Amino acid sequence: MERIIVGGGRRLEGSVQVHGAKNAILKEMVAALLTPGTHRLLDVPRIADVELMGQVLEHIGVVCEFDDRTLTMTTPDEVLPEAPLELVRKMRASIVVLGPLLARTGRASVAFPGGDDLGARPIDMHLSGLEAMGATFELRHGMLEATVDGRLRGADVSLEFPSVGATENLMLAGVLADGATMIHNAAREPEIQDLAAQLVEMGARIEGAGTSTITVHGVEELQAVTHQVVPDRIVAGTFAVAGAITGGDVTIEGCVPDHLRMELRKLEAAGVEVERGSSTVRVVGPERPDPVDFATLPFPGFHTDMQPQMVALLSVASGSSIVTENLYDARFRYVGELMRLGADITVEWQHAVIRGVDRLSGAPVLAPDIRAGAALVLAGLRAEGETTVGDVYHIDRGYEDLVADLASLGADIRRA
Ligand code: UD1
Repeated sequence: MERIIVGGGRRLEGSVQVHGAKNAILKEMVAALLTPGTHRLLDVPRIADVELMGQVLEHIGVVCEFDDRTLTMTTPDEVLPEAPLELVRKMRASIVVLGPLLARTGRASVAFPGGDDLGARPIDMHLSGLEAMGATFELRHGMLEATVDGRLRGADVSLEFPSVGATENLMLAGVLADGATMIHNAAREPEIQDLAAQLVEMGARIEGAGTSTITVHGVEELQAVTHQVVPDRIVAGTFAVAGAITGGDVTIEGCVPDHLRMELRKLEAAGVEVERGSSTVRVVGPERPDPVDFATLPFPGFHTDMQPQMVALLSVASGSSIVTENLYDARFRYVGELMRLGADITVEWQHAVIRGVDRLSGAPVLAPDIRAGAALVLAGLRAEGETTVGDVYHIDRGYEDLVADLASLGADIRRA
């Protein structure tokens, strides 16, 4: 089992480059199902989740090739509209193949995803939206058997909650549907705007991506394109906290500062100096952060995927912070690991009270999920002595080479 070993106490300095956003790429890979041809995505990091989605696509019949951060997907005329359990279990985002497979072939057989590291994670909004478009679903032996009589029809769908995945599934279904699909209370995440941009490049007609009402006018056909992926704001934010927690001076290059609006504001409230360029963010960390309260919310609120990293920072603040998690019921599961490093945190249901401590003390911990794993590495950068983070495969799902990037900024860090 591989581990990441961090020697704490070094101030990080220098600059680090961010690549394409995992949460955009996974859906943009699925968009390749919509039409035969050679699709390309540029600036794709080599992360485990991309490999896993590649396996899902390969199962369906798409040939995926990866070369120097260019991902090429060749979609044949005939595809197998199926995503089996062993793949869906590993790659929950596979559920977004439903929309495009139904649009393309009129049927899909996709394993019902169970819960995951972050909690129960239902898919009711994906299903009811697609039902409104004419799909029918039957759950048979753990498989969702979906069919549509003829072509999907445009529909008026109101989401109960601005779900990222449901918004994307409906957009991917709507582009080839008969008529217009309106998605009300749509998610506004930058990754959704980027997926819409790719689909428009493919010939789709989409209005309002990035707002709460998205209109998709179905078209007869699409073509394969090459798309430049939006930078990963969570990876950028993780490096920003790395600079902040070590009292360092770190410049993140190739990012979109506006996509981290709320997160950077909260860092500033914690006493971090933040300089925003057109595609760079520079952070200069304080000796000790100030306490800050925040709540996770859909974009443009504070991103739930930045919550553990921010909690790691606040664990050494000069006072108490209150953090409210509004997206996932099990997102605070990592707090016990952070407490092994000496953090003083009480979790009550969806709230955490973080009483800042003077110092953290290195210890062996386990990464419970991607972002919490990264947060434990960040805490290790601040802790006295050695922190060993196990279960690093979680971290590898979303970070191309966190160890090399942090080492290039001066961290004492290695993999063993
Ligand atoms: C995506 C991101 C994930 C991020 C999340 C929120 C990917 C691959 N993952 O996940 O990293 O944390 O957005 O920004 O892009 N829900 C329902 N019913 C549904 C759908 C969702 O109840 O049909 C609930 C979920 O359980 C969760 C909330 O809605 O509590 C938000 O989920 P959603 O926005 O759908 O997240 P994902 O698309 O799964």
